[in-house]
Amino acid sequence: MKILALFGSPKLKGNTNKILEMITDEFKDEKEYKRINLSKLKINHCMGCNKCNVGNFECIYKDDMDYVNKSIEEADLVILATPIHFNSMTSIMKVMVDRCQRLYNMKVNNNIVFKEKKGIIIATAGSSNSESFAALENISKYFFLSINGKVERKLFINSMDNKEINENDLKNIENMKNLLYTLYKDN
Ligand SMILES: Cc1cc2nc3c(=O)[nH]c(=O)nc-3n(C[C@H](O)[C@H](O)[C@H](O)COP(=O)(O)O)c2cc1C
Repeated sequence: MKILALFGSPKLKGNTNKILEMITDEFKDEKEYKRINLSKLKINHCMGCNKCNVGNFECIYKDDMDYVNKSIEEADLVILATPIHFNSMTSIMKVMVDRCQRLYNMKVNNNIVFKEKKGIIIATAGSSNSESFAALENISKYFFLSINGKVERKLFINSMDNKEINENDLKNIENMKNLLYTLYKDN
């Protein structure tokens, strides 16, 4: 089973990386596991030209999104991992998601779909604001719809700026790790 982690933090050694690494620890050297640090890629903003909704659904841009598209297409499980910025996913990740408009057009308007995938969402927030993850959840819903993915589980850890990872967080991280391992072994 191919696992793809799309990592949206600008900090490669920050809080979100720490949680993602704890969860994917056992896979990091597997050739079946690929992590893409989106902040390292050059992905143009979607211009809304709608060219990807006609003909052979080509985007006007040839950039690193081609690599992301190919990686998503090949994956059996996609992990979105992002910190919360202004109550949403980072803009780094959102630029990538907007470019999935092509996949949305292919699927929703033309019934052309990638193979079915499983999805996991991991996010960290600095505050304890109960609304922190709402926008991320909503955007992710349409991202996974576009890539033909079904979200299996979400792990949201808040108050990261005011506390160390606590017992409850550790339990949730362990559960997510076990789920990933089970999905990997069963497929
Ligand atoms: C630009 C920016 C905006 C942020 N906005 C929020 C926010 O709206 N709500 C929140 O709880 N934390 C917010 N934070 C805090 C981060 O979500 C938190 O520190 C996160 O764990 C950082 O993860 P990282 O180390 O992977 O970047 C923000 C941080 C930055 C840099």
